[in-house]
Amino acid sequence: MGEFPPDTRLALRTATSADLEDIATVAQEGFPDDPEFNYRFPYREKYPDDNRKWILQEYREYLEQPDKYEVIIITASDNDDKAVALSVWDISISKAHRGSDLGIPDNPEEQCRRRDANPIHFRKFKDRMNEAFELYFSEYGTDQIHLWLLATRPAFRRRGAGTRLCRWGLERASQNSICTTVLASPMGKCLYEELSFTDCGSFDIQVEGEAEKLQLWAMTHPKTDSVAAVVQVEYSSIISPYQRTIHISMASTPQATDGRTGSKTRQRQKTHSTTTTDTSQSSTASYSLDKYLNKANDRSPLTRYLSDFEDIPITERLSQSDQQTGRFHITDGYPRGGQ
Ligand SMILES: CC(C)(COP(=O)(O)OP(=O)(O)OC[C@H]1O[C@@H](n2cnc3c(N)ncnc32)[C@H](O)[C@@H]1OP(=O)(O)O)[C@@H](O)C(=O)NCCC(=O)NCCS
Repeated sequence: MGEFPPDTRLALRTATSADLEDIATVAQEGFPDDPEFNYRFPYREKYPDDNRKWILQEYREYLEQPDKYEVIIITASDNDDKAVALSVWDISISKAHRGSDLGIPDNPEEQCRRRDANPIHFRKFKDRMNEAFELYFSEYGTDQIHLWLLATRPAFRRRGAGTRLCRWGLERASQNSICTTVLASPMGKCLYEELSFTDCGSFDIQVEGEAEKLQLWAMTHPKTDSVAAVVQVEYSSIISPYQRTIHISMASTPQATDGRTGSKTRQRQKTHSTTTTDTSQSSTASYSLDKYLNKANDRSPLTRYLSDFEDIPITERLSQSDQQTGRFHITDGYPRGGQ
């Protein structure tokens, strides 16, 4: 990504309910380039009114929950100072979403109230996104800000709007010393990579028996604590039928100065997951050294991380740590003595 002078025609601000119609226009024009939109709403061109009605409903719900969502927009002076790009950030992960079913009841037996959607794809998408969020990001708990939606109207692209919206979130995350997470579309992925997000792995969305499928990427931008730690996890071989060893080494990193630093601070390997088709996942993130050294207990990020290895009962946790070098040795295994 090149460095461009700021486009002075663009301005960033928090959206209000007065922006709702313009936001719906951004969504209707911008999201068709994200394959998931066509996947969920293949009949949107045939039923544009249904599509708009429910888009308005969806964004109204975000705007009505300012304690959970920040809807940040970019306006353009060459568009009558109306929105040309939108982003929806989950700023309070622990709070549940309070919203309608957007015209598609969870129960397939119930009547779908919109004609633009494929309800089977809609439900599958919702389920897989929730699963992916859980799989890739639950370890961060409330220490994250999550980007749910990002789009720029096609006529206003490549002027830095998407980048500015992402930087808003990165800045907020940095101020709160938390990380930034997103489940990315192909177009989004390119942008996030330019902003030093790292790829935690990809997952598919596909209804059984159908050829059509989507691929999305789980991406994180590590938090930028003043003291961060590099954690390297090497998933070692099985040392007995009942025991495996996981080696984790860590070292402090220099102080991170802004939202663009600190990438690739943690390598992680997962060997097994029941909810993804990807077998070669890796991700990056950083945790504060302090957290690791002082909170090596059941609630520590390290333990939460280890609990991701669903197939390995954890019998022994932190067996050795060296605060001088910041190196840990973890031994986890199946119960000794066999099953
Ligand atoms: C992804 C998306 C939001 C990016 O929006 P955008 O406003 O065009 O983003 P930016 O302008 O900041 O960056 C896009 C490109 O423009 C370039 N750019 C940024 N500022 C620029 C400027 N002033 N002049 C020229 N080019 C510029 C960037 O370098 C980047 O180029 P690259 O893709 O070759 O790296 C937009 O493509 C979109 O709406 N896609 C469909 C919806 C979607 O997939 N959303 C992501 C969901 S996860």
